[in-house]
Amino acid sequence: MFLLNRHPEHGRPLDAAEAALLGPAGAAEIARYLAFRAPDAATPLLSLPALAAQLGIGALHVKDEGPRLGLGSFKALGGAYAVMRLVLEKAGRTEIGDLARADVREVAGGMTFACATDGNHGRSVAQGAQLIGARAVIFVHGGVSEERVAAIARFGAEVVRVAGNYDDSVREAARVAEREGWAIVSDTSWPGYERIPGLVMQGYTAIADEALRELEAPPTHVFVQAGVGGIAAAMAGYFAAALGERRPVFTVVEPARAACLYASAEAGTWTQIAQGEPTVMAMLECYEPSMSAWRVLARAADAFMAVEEDEAVAAMNRLARPSAGDPAVVAGESGCVGFAGLAAAAGDPARRAALRLDAGARVLVVNTEGATDPGKYEALVGMRPEAVVHAAR
Ligand SMILES: Cc1ncc(COP(=O)(O)O)c(C=O)c1O
Repeated sequence: MFLLNRHPEHGRPLDAAEAALLGPAGAAEIARYLAFRAPDAATPLLSLPALAAQLGIGALHVKDEGPRLGLGSFKALGGAYAVMRLVLEKAGRTEIGDLARADVREVAGGMTFACATDGNHGRSVAQGAQLIGARAVIFVHGGVSEERVAAIARFGAEVVRVAGNYDDSVREAARVAEREGWAIVSDTSWPGYERIPGLVMQGYTAIADEALRELEAPPTHVFVQAGVGGIAAAMAGYFAAALGERRPVFTVVEPARAACLYASAEAGTWTQIAQGEPTVMAMLECYEPSMSAWRVLARAADAFMAVEEDEAVAAMNRLARPSAGDPAVVAGESGCVGFAGLAAAAGDPARRAALRLDAGARVLVVNTEGATDPGKYEALVGMRPEAVVHAAR
């Protein structure tokens, strides 16, 4: 499954508000917040020259979000940031540093934050609430593993199991939060509810901003995986706002079993798809795109593609067992998917031509999570995550 973006809006600059939210000015806000939280919050940008040569491209960089803020995934950037911004707002403050004030913490103590999650976003909201002294209630559907639930509960959050899939849990969290007067910090948006998911996406722009600062030259191509499209929109939006015409060719990658953005691109409009079989790429199992993410991607993404189950597992293994000289990357089932998309595109002459992916290409992918479900990781890779890192040293 592969298609170029033919949307009538494709290539148009972002609206001013979106450019301000997701561009360098927005990324500066999250950078200030990260500096307040942890001086070493930036994640590694790895270079894999041997793998790049195998793929017939000039350079491959992997932004490794596994170590992000001790949470195991890039989601650490979004939910916790939104929680803290909302506490500041309620306290009538704007400076991130004011989060340390006793009166601000008192305001936080009276607030409850709720969200739905496949695992990673809920962990971020729970961590943000715990850090600031607020309460968190996290809604999970039946497919979320006990290991992931325990990782959320570790941050002192109440976890509520609901029937159905991720999209059902989003609706249930919104319904209960509305009834109880809680703040809902969703990573997906719907009509009339875009501001808070916008803050969540702003948090993710740190990934692109850090990478661009570290690279000698901007990437020519970027492949990013999508669930509801938040991280893809944040990164595509950032590059569009920061680089304009010089922005990289941007490809959105989804599981073939849950390709709602692909379906939207095909239809030329926001599209919900029917639930299919569960995918191993569990964090990407979403059937409804985020409304605002789709709006950004309609303009700033250049191609949409989907990968099969075995392609994702092969990508995890390939990153875990590097060629000589390359670092190993511990990439979870959903973390490896941008790379899986690159590998599929690089091996197909028609896709290479369509994307202008050649021996001069400098490609950036994001490993969006480490082994956030270690048992699953070991089952799929045949090694414990610690053994992978050890083997690479
Ligand atoms: C590890 C990982 N990668 C990618 C995604 C996709 O992010 P989004 O839903 O913003 O598209 C998620 C979402 O939970 C995730 O946890």
